[in-house]
Amino acid sequence: MQNIAISVRDLYFKYEKEYILEDINVDIYENEYVAIIGPNGGGKTTFIKLILGLLKPTKGEIRIYGKPPRLASTLIGYTPQNTNFNLDFPLRVIDIVLQGRIKKSKFYFSKEDRKVALEKLELVGMKELAHKKLKDLSGGQRQRVFIARALACEPKILILDEPTAAVDIEGQKSIYKLLRELKLTKLVISHDIKILLEGVNRVAYINRRLYMHDNLNLDITPQGHFCEIELLNAIRCDHE
Ligand SMILES: Nc1ncnc2c1ncn2[C@@H]1O[C@H](COP(=O)(O)OP(=O)(O)O)[C@@H](O)[C@H]1O
Ligand SMILES: [Mg+2]
Repeated sequence: MQNIAISVRDLYFKYEKEYILEDINVDIYENEYVAIIGPNGGGKTTFIKLILGLLKPTKGEIRIYGKPPRLASTLIGYTPQNTNFNLDFPLRVIDIVLQGRIKKSKFYFSKEDRKVALEKLELVGMKELAHKKLKDLSGGQRQRVFIARALACEPKILILDEPTAAVDIEGQKSIYKLLRELKLTKLVISHDIKILLEGVNRVAYINRRLYMHDNLNLDITPQGHFCEIELLNAIRCDHE
């Protein structure tokens, strides 16, 4: 039996009157790579915020390695959607990654913190740029820095909310390649359905309800060409 990293049972959530998420049941296994897709406003970001313990279920239960989300925050590294960073602020790459080492009881960074931050930068291919200012990087490079920050707490689970939204095509490719190589449980929200060709194990389609699909077994030969319609057909996005 594989370990269950995230378990969601009978989850319902509403901000106001109307349910945004309904009747969600899913287990995510350790070391799985799950893509989360679905229409704008479908509830993807809300679902992730519930897993992170930033929101509380209206009904139902979420467990991260058996713990309630608010007790499991150190197990999850996260990059939010639209990291609207104030680029006028002269932050350097290494400072951003060190933010991932901040702990409640500590007010300074140790040698170990700096060592881990540099290791994570190396892992995402950004070590040489550690002392650059964030504003001097491309969208793709910035996203790598945020991934390094998410990894800096040495989490068991990595959750990325639209990591390729502000990234050009080449940058997107290299981020997908990096994600493929990272060995941990990964949940990646994407507006870009091409992610389905990037080695994900399962796909969660969220539009108020969650529909899980196993890996698609698509023919991804160099000749194989997929347009969005074919991909959407392959995961039968006709739930509504
Ligand atoms: N803080 C909030 N208060 C009220 N409604 C919200 C809030 N955040 C999101 N919503 C609504 O919840 C729905 C799902 O939003 P979201 O989870 O951001 O969707 P997605 O990430 O799939 O685009 C949308 O209708 C959105 O308007
Ligand atoms: Mg969103």
